[in-house]
Amino acid sequence: MLNTGAMAQINPSMLSADFARLADEAKAVQGADWLHVDVMDNHFVPNLTLGVPVVEALGRATDTPLDCHLMIEDPDRWAPAYVDAGAGSVTFHVEAAAAPVRLAREIRAKGARASMALRPATPIEPYEDLLPELDMLLVMTVEPGFGGQAFLDVMLPKIRRTRRLIERHGLSLWLQVDGGVSAETIERCAEAGADVFVAGSAVYGAEDPAAAVSALRELAERAAPPHATSR
Ligand code: DX5
Ligand code: ZN
Repeated sequence: MLNTGAMAQINPSMLSADFARLADEAKAVQGADWLHVDVMDNHFVPNLTLGVPVVEALGRATDTPLDCHLMIEDPDRWAPAYVDAGAGSVTFHVEAAAAPVRLAREIRAKGARASMALRPATPIEPYEDLLPELDMLLVMTVEPGFGGQAFLDVMLPKIRRTRRLIERHGLSLWLQVDGGVSAETIERCAEAGADVFVAGSAVYGAEDPAAAVSALRELAERAAPPHATSR
């Protein structure tokens, strides 16, 4: 179940978990709002991870909803299968999508939350009119492809501008950040207006991953401006 009491949602990235023990690794972060599952196809990004069968199996092994981040070419063709596999939220990259509006509508029609991701060099402004079609917008804070990279501070203005657009249009979509999010960087993201935080190495690299989730949530909630409502 979604932790609706939380203003800041923390989504541990399974990319930093032990792939041979995914069910146990999901249990190790019981208090997490979502499990972030990074799907990479070796084309959109230079790395290869997992696909539909693993998402299906993971979904059967945990009650925590799955937040699937598709770093793949041709999401128009492949994304709907992740909803069928049990994902509660499916994120596609706008740089890879041929018809983002059609795809977001298809994801929603199938019953999942529709989310769109922007690589660091992709601006938000051309997509302002698409925001009502989305349940979440993901601003990447590293180049997608690998865990454990350094947070890109230069993305903070884009997070701020995206938050302003969401407010200007009176929308309730969530604003997610992914890449280099840790105890050192999460407050800056929250201050800038993010309300959903993906953390891979900062959670699974910690001695107690569940405690790391709580600590990150506390930092984000304390730093969040009053408008923040990720529910
Ligand atoms: C990177 C992935 C991230 C990654 C984050 O392309 O999308 O979800 O796992 O890992 P950290 O938190 O270690 O930067
Ligand atoms: Zn991700």
